[in-house]
Amino acid sequence: MYLTKEEEKILSGELGDVKALALKIIVKVGEVLKAEKLINIIHAHISGISYFNIRDYGLRFIEDLKVKGAKFTVYTTANPYATVTTNFLGQTLPNNIVNKQHRIVNALKDMGVNAFTCAPYYVRRPKPGDHLAWAESNAVLYANSVIGARTNREGGPLALMSAIVGKTYYWGMHDDEYIEPCMKVSAYTPDTSMEASAIGYILGEKCPNCIPLLENMVFRNKACIRLFLAAFGTTSSSPMVILDKLTPLNKNVREKINKLRNDLEKYQISAYDVKRLVKEYKFKEARGKGLYIIGCPHLTPQETSYILEALLSKISANSSIRMRELWLISMEPLSRLGNITKELSRFNIKVLHGVCPVVTRLDMLDVDYVVTDSFKALHYIRKISGIEVFIDSRENVLRRFIYG
Ligand code: F3S
Repeated sequence: MYLTKEEEKILSGELGDVKALALKIIVKVGEVLKAEKLINIIHAHISGISYFNIRDYGLRFIEDLKVKGAKFTVYTTANPYATVTTNFLGQTLPNNIVNKQHRIVNALKDMGVNAFTCAPYYVRRPKPGDHLAWAESNAVLYANSVIGARTNREGGPLALMSAIVGKTYYWGMHDDEYIEPCMKVSAYTPDTSMEASAIGYILGEKCPNCIPLLENMVFRNKACIRLFLAAFGTTSSSPMVILDKLTPLNKNVREKINKLRNDLEKYQISAYDVKRLVKEYKFKEARGKGLYIIGCPHLTPQETSYILEALLSKISANSSIRMRELWLISMEPLSRLGNITKELSRFNIKVLHGVCPVVTRLDMLDVDYVVTDSFKALHYIRKISGIEVFIDSRENVLRRFIYG
């Protein structure tokens, strides 16, 4: 691999042991992939920081980097962490887990993490053509497919190394040659973000490791795009969906796609396909304590406020909400929450930020079942916590939460 003088200096340890280690790891991965060189990045996004994922080994690794003086040299964000900042109907996680999660977060903050969210594109929106090292699938898909920036689907540790040296290997999505659709897909226009999520989930199963070209599908709003991409990234390892008329592409790539277009295999996702998938996970009788989740991926503050207003206008003073809680997960704290906090807690509604319920062992919080509008949440909560998860439209999740 070709290395600049500056990169050789870093590798030799002239700029410190931590930078040398970080670059060594990136170079090793790049060599395996036969990358010809390294490139500078402008934003790193680290994933996999839940204590439930990385345990003591990950905690030691991150704290060790901090002790050795690691500092992030480019703008860096990180995924949300396990939900240790609140309880569920009075039940909290064990103290030792809470403490260890806070140690992970504090070490990352000390090294320079600016925000903990899975929507880093709202914290600092990249420009088309920017090179990134991001490690959260929904964020990667959003950056490549909606913004036109370029990032591979990095692993959490590699994104951490990139944050330290501000570089990644030139391979995959960083090279326009890589962008080539494997099939063209048409889908009906979904009515709700939950249906968009179902379409993404089905499409990911069809394209587990290649880039589809999505024609003729209209997204009604930003939430539909985010939930669609997040679900696609759940069943596929592809870093991109080419959204016709939406994905920014340079002239050469667009011409290449247009040449290929007529010969591509066709695939169609119908309203019937979505109905069949949703039916499988539709709300059935549920017993015990229920957690209602909206915000996978994280909501914008505007979306959160909108949901809160709609909710509070429907809940009457006499509403009695027992045995269930609603968590709205926002990408940042809501500033104007102050005057309604009491009202929210009376109705078991929590607005959270910085955390992810999906990477939390919800079974340890005594959650019996979950209701959500996100297929990504459904998929991973079943896997990580082994509890029942039901899917419904955002509107119905809220209705069910209020009326039971
Ligand atoms: Fe975000 Fe957690 Fe969902 S990281 S995309 S809320 S699984």
